[in-house]
Amino acid sequence: MNEKITPSKSSFATTILIAEDSRVQRKILDNHLQTLGYNVLSASDGVEALEIFRAIQPRVVITDLEMPNMDGFELIRQIRKHEIQYTHITVLSSLAEKENIIRAISLGASDYLVKPFHPDEMRVRLEASERLIRIQSQERIILLMAKLTDYRSPETGFHIERVQHYTRLLAQDLAEHGHSDLNNSIITTLFSLSSLHDIGKVAIPDEILNKPGKLTTEEFELMKEHVVIGGTILDEAYQEIGSEFLRIARDIVLYHHERFDGFGYPYGLKGNDIPISARIVALADVFDALSSERCYKPAFPREQCYQIILEERGLHFDPEIVDAFLRNEEEFWLIRKQFPDS
Ligand SMILES: [Fe+2]
Ligand SMILES: [Fe+2]
Repeated sequence: MNEKITPSKSSFATTILIAEDSRVQRKILDNHLQTLGYNVLSASDGVEALEIFRAIQPRVVITDLEMPNMDGFELIRQIRKHEIQYTHITVLSSLAEKENIIRAISLGASDYLVKPFHPDEMRVRLEASERLIRIQSQERIILLMAKLTDYRSPETGFHIERVQHYTRLLAQDLAEHGHSDLNNSIITTLFSLSSLHDIGKVAIPDEILNKPGKLTTEEFELMKEHVVIGGTILDEAYQEIGSEFLRIARDIVLYHHERFDGFGYPYGLKGNDIPISARIVALADVFDALSSERCYKPAFPREQCYQIILEERGLHFDPEIVDAFLRNEEEFWLIRKQFPDS
């Protein structure tokens, strides 16, 4: 800890930015939102709104479409370009034609209301947008938690980053080879969430995590607990919130030590019963362990890593994922080089 972190003075109320050129309408909306307990900032055109947006980064924006200087369409485009985190943009316009609605939403608007707004409709829509924003913030917090493992784990250096890159590389290759469960958005999610795979290690004693040499049977049993510890926490969060993001996180954490032949842990799941996310991370994680120095082993040379992965085709690893590895082996070593341990 070097720099002092000062607590922010802001309250829990969400800040909403209104972009509306009509003074009367601005006032009506402003009053309504303040009554609902929001902090309100307002602008009379797109240029002013964008200036405020860039300075404050409010999470919710309500914008008119027809405004002088910069209209609402351009404002939406600019916000999407300059936002640091996701902004919920509601259009409030007298333009009711479908083509305007489609244009606004394809530019990035999140919601569309036609004037005059109904106070209760505005309230429930804003509540829905807040729920979305809250879930997204929770997802960010989860990713930051991954960094906690970094402090305790013996795999110092860039283990987490390498596993993320190997995971993405495999997922992309599998998608290109017709794996229909994997699309761009899932691949991005896998890249982020693979960082969490060993989050449960925060609960494993140092003597076990950093023991040079082989673990005793008892120690190994304890070490194996990391998947259940991490997986249970994520499963609880998933049961409560129900987001797909949390389900994938749970799958990776809980099942990354399962083996394709059914001899892995914690449950001995077999083949395609193991979620694809965990089957991919399993290979990424093992490749990194093989190719890196650990407190219990030296880094193995390229040929040996290749042989071991190949021999485990259909045993430890999904054969299709081994094939994806073989097609990209060169690239694996480039990533290995790109993130060297000090
Ligand atoms: Fe692990
Ligand atoms: Fe790992």
